[in-house]
Amino acid sequence: MNREPKRVVLISSSPKVSEESTSGLLTARQEKLMKTEELNVYRLDVRQSLMKGRTEADFEAMLHADALVFTFPLYVFCLPGILMRFLQDYYAYWTQRQDGVVGSRIYAVVNCGFPEANINQEAIRVIESFSRNTKNSFRFGVMIGGGGMLLGAQGTPFVRKTMAELNKAFSLMVEDIIKSRENAVENIAVAVNFPRKLYFFMGNKGWVSKAKTNGLKKKDLFCKPYSNY
Ligand SMILES: Cc1cc2nc3c(=O)[nH]c(=O)nc-3n(C[C@H](O)[C@H](O)[C@H](O)COP(=O)(O)O)c2cc1C
Repeated sequence: MNREPKRVVLISSSPKVSEESTSGLLTARQEKLMKTEELNVYRLDVRQSLMKGRTEADFEAMLHADALVFTFPLYVFCLPGILMRFLQDYYAYWTQRQDGVVGSRIYAVVNCGFPEANINQEAIRVIESFSRNTKNSFRFGVMIGGGGMLLGAQGTPFVRKTMAELNKAFSLMVEDIIKSRENAVENIAVAVNFPRKLYFFMGNKGWVSKAKTNGLKKKDLFCKPYSNY
């Protein structure tokens, strides 16, 4: 028996303008794994959607999707502002429509700069709350620590190992969607396995070189422009 392919919307939400983003890389990985006759994939980028006035077409695709996958960076221990705005706008659209799919499956893939994957938990809870409020079903999240390295150190053995773990997590997501599984799945934590001290040393060097690029000195990074107010 031929079944209709399930409709999946992949929502990539890094606020980065022209630089490559880890969220973009992870969304591309998911899309590759979803190239099967059983799934019909629609991919959107939140920044492009908002800036190019494409939200209506994108909301329409989301409304009729069997599964939504939100992939984004952690910003100040929560969601980037553009994604919050997008979710709020979608919620307003959704409340005015009565014809959407009820019970779409929702997944969150969050990557952060710190090496600890679990600090993404709070952001996952925001997506869970969004799922409840739109009468959808949150399935599970993938929390990634040291996300910046996935782009910056591509091809190195420790990143290859992390990408293999992420492939496993994304394959589980694909199966979960295709087989419409109902069993509870715990959030999955994946962190780049790299010496912590060296990680912070390199991170701090990165801030200093960024300051230089912007005509500042190292001491300028410690300025407190609002401390007299
Ligand atoms: C404004 C801003 C806020 C951030 N806040 C956090 C944070 O609270 N915790 C953290 O671990 N990383 C934080 N980061 C780092 C990003 O989560 C990290 O660089 C991520 O890999 C970027 O992903 P992207 O390339 O998909 O945008 C922040 C980055 C920016 C630019």
